Amino acid sequence: MKITVINGTEVKGCTYHIKEEFLAPLRGGHEVTEFYLPRDMPHFCCGCKTCFVQDTARCPHNAQVEPIWNAVIEADLIVLTAPVYGLGIPAGLKALLDHFCVRWMVHRPDPAMFSKSAVVMTNCIGAGFMAKSSQRDIVNALSWMGVSRIRRLAIGLLEGVIWDELSDKRRSNIIRKARRLASKHAHIRPAGKSLKTRAKFLMCKGMHKAVLKNEETPGADNRHWLEMGWI
Ligand SMILES: Cc1cc2nc3c(=O)[nH]c(=O)nc-3n(C[C@H](O)[C@H](O)[C@H](O)COP(=O)(O)O)c2cc1C
Repeated sequence: MKITVINGTEVKGCTYHIKEEFLAPLRGGHEVTEFYLPRDMPHFCCGCKTCFVQDTARCPHNAQVEPIWNAVIEADLIVLTAPVYGLGIPAGLKALLDHFCVRWMVHRPDPAMFSKSAVVMTNCIGAGFMAKSSQRDIVNALSWMGVSRIRRLAIGLLEGVIWDELSDKRRSNIIRKARRLASKHAHIRPAGKSLKTRAKFLMCKGMHKAVLKNEETPGADNRHWLEMGWI
């Protein structure tokens, strides 16, 4: 099975260590591909909308975005990790997710996304609920791209921000949580479409049908929906 990891930071800090603890039991049995941001996709979306109205291949940042997207599509499990910055996610990860907006169900979803599993991991110096609420942009993106099975790990470090300086008790508590989450992915089975995903898909289908009625020639989004046989 394939695991694609998108690391929302290049720092080898708490985010990295928590992710490594999660991956440790999985590395033997699965093929892991990792990307680090902003190193592997250092651009902000410039808002040209070329992906929406023409083709993703014409995005000015396609050379960096496409390999990551291809690895996402090939993966059985997608892992996104991030430290909390300003109660949200680091700009590098948000920038990548912005480039994925064209893959949302309101535009051109890839059917491969409907059977994928995802894990979202965040940590912060504050409380766990802050780490959890910071995941909103990631979970929204995954959900609108069609991923139904999203598991989450949100860690409030509280004691400090240096992994090796955390107390043994806290560190082993975090490791236990990461390993417990990993054990749920020892065997990665295709996920089914959840009720929420079905509802979003039906809503988008209705929207695309309505738009198609007023198009002389179908736009890029509707060409995709027609090719997929969805409308
Ligand atoms: C720019 C910046 C903004 C941050 N904002 C928050 C925040 O809003 N809330 C919080 O609890 N921690 C915040 N932190 C702390 C980090 O989330 C925390 O140190 C995390 O463990 C960093 O992960 P790392 O060791 O992988 O870099 C911030 C850190 C940085 C560098």
